[in-house]
Amino acid sequence: MLSSHDTIVILDFGSQYTQLIARRIREQHVYSVILSSSTSLERILAYHPKGLILSGGPASVTDREAPHPPEGLLSLDLPILGICYGMQVITQALGGQVAGAQRREYGRAELMIDDNSDLFQGLPTHRGFPVWMSHGDRIDQLPPDFQVIAHTDNSPIAVMKRPHQTAPIFCLQFHPEVAHTTHGETILNNFVSRVCGCQPNWTMGSFITEAVQEIREQVGDDKVICALSGGVDSTVAAALTHRAIGNQLNCLFIDNGFMRKDEVTLLESIFDAHYHMDVRVVDSRAAFLQALGRTIHPEKKRKIIGRQFIKSFESEAQTIGQVKYLVQGTLYPDVIESVSTKGPSATIKTHHNVGGLPARMKLRLIEPLRDLFKDEVRALGLELGLPDDLIWRHPFPGPGLAIRIIGGVTPERLTILREADAIVTEEIRKAGLYREIWQAFAVLIPVQTVGVMGDQRTYESVIAIRAVTSTDGMTADWADIPHEILGRLSSRIINEVKGVNRVVYDISSKPPSTIEWE
Ligand code: XMP
Repeated sequence: MLSSHDTIVILDFGSQYTQLIARRIREQHVYSVILSSSTSLERILAYHPKGLILSGGPASVTDREAPHPPEGLLSLDLPILGICYGMQVITQALGGQVAGAQRREYGRAELMIDDNSDLFQGLPTHRGFPVWMSHGDRIDQLPPDFQVIAHTDNSPIAVMKRPHQTAPIFCLQFHPEVAHTTHGETILNNFVSRVCGCQPNWTMGSFITEAVQEIREQVGDDKVICALSGGVDSTVAAALTHRAIGNQLNCLFIDNGFMRKDEVTLLESIFDAHYHMDVRVVDSRAAFLQALGRTIHPEKKRKIIGRQFIKSFESEAQTIGQVKYLVQGTLYPDVIESVSTKGPSATIKTHHNVGGLPARMKLRLIEPLRDLFKDEVRALGLELGLPDDLIWRHPFPGPGLAIRIIGGVTPERLTILREADAIVTEEIRKAGLYREIWQAFAVLIPVQTVGVMGDQRTYESVIAIRAVTSTDGMTADWADIPHEILGRLSSRIINEVKGVNRVVYDISSKPPSTIEWE
């Protein structure tokens, strides 16, 4: 969506922090968009930016293959902020000198401000404050017309500016977007509001108004279909689309039998009661189990479930009549055309989504969340009136409980896992830990171990409890749950779930493990 709000364009040179820059700016209610550093000038200008940010990146400007901004970018009549690699690339292009630093700087440094008239307005000049450095190269000589406005012990040119009425350039050697930089928010806010003159009017309310308008224009009188999964993204996407086109939207919920306890009822109640939205629950439980048969290999299980999903969805969709559009809950991190420093990432696991459907069914896509980060989707959901409980639900994989049963899936194993999992969720919520934990769930390890209950010897399955903290699911650490709660989980599961006589706690981080077991 090309926004009608003030926009900051961020050119990505491959920094691991680029998305953070965008989020910090959006937190100030100013719209920002990330484009690859190789984007054409014409495309950048199509966003009508009020300012540009050049991100950091892993390359060295002294490399032959080093990425550069498009020709003419630095002579646009726009304010520019260069961060780390962005600073070095600007320095090189405008006639300064960059050299490999004799003393690289990684981690904390103390920044002393020499001039707090614009970028550093409101910040102290008489004492330093911590900033986060991460660079090998550094600036040896300023480009013409630039002046130093802050330094550290190690970097005499830690921050420089080229004063100009309408197109000033600021360059930072440190990262204002990371939490370790004190006052980073103020610095970015000064750039966006004071230097670029952006108005803080990008709110969820205004986003809804624009998105509703756009969906209406796109769809006209045609029919739209949506696959609800119970997750936050598809639910918010459906609620927003429903706000735009009402009953032209047909929602299907494919019950594959691998859902959490009471999931189907919960969804029905939310959509029926809350939205008067027509959600058709398709009972495909038998078809999924049959398709899986005795399959035990995780990737095969995922692929079979993905294929069966498309089959079930397609055959139900035919009963709706001529449908032209499919709503998908695609998020911004999936569409950012970032510079990848590692090349296409290896497939660790095939993630199941509705991929494959649009092409097969000749559907066009409606992706109303494709401009939003996850936390923004949550804010949008709340603004649309979705209940707190749903908005803050832990992520749940498309193939559901089927990939939390190691090996073969049977109705009996599903029952055991579903009950154990419900206890985990209930106790974690009761302990007030649900929000701070990224995911907490049970995994069924269907190997039999020996136990003793009453005077009887038992020979039953093992439940593993997996609970992790994370910010994006890409990396994760096992959650340090108090022993008392672990104890309660164990005793409740063993006492209440028939078929389990042993509970273990998974203490592996990601990497090297993954969050799910399959
Ligand atoms: P892993 O196990 O790869 O999981 O560390 C990372 C995150 O992704 C979720 N996940 C999935 N989500 N479809 C999804 O929509 C899937 O097939 C899928 N597999 C894993 C997982 O729950 C965790 O949050």
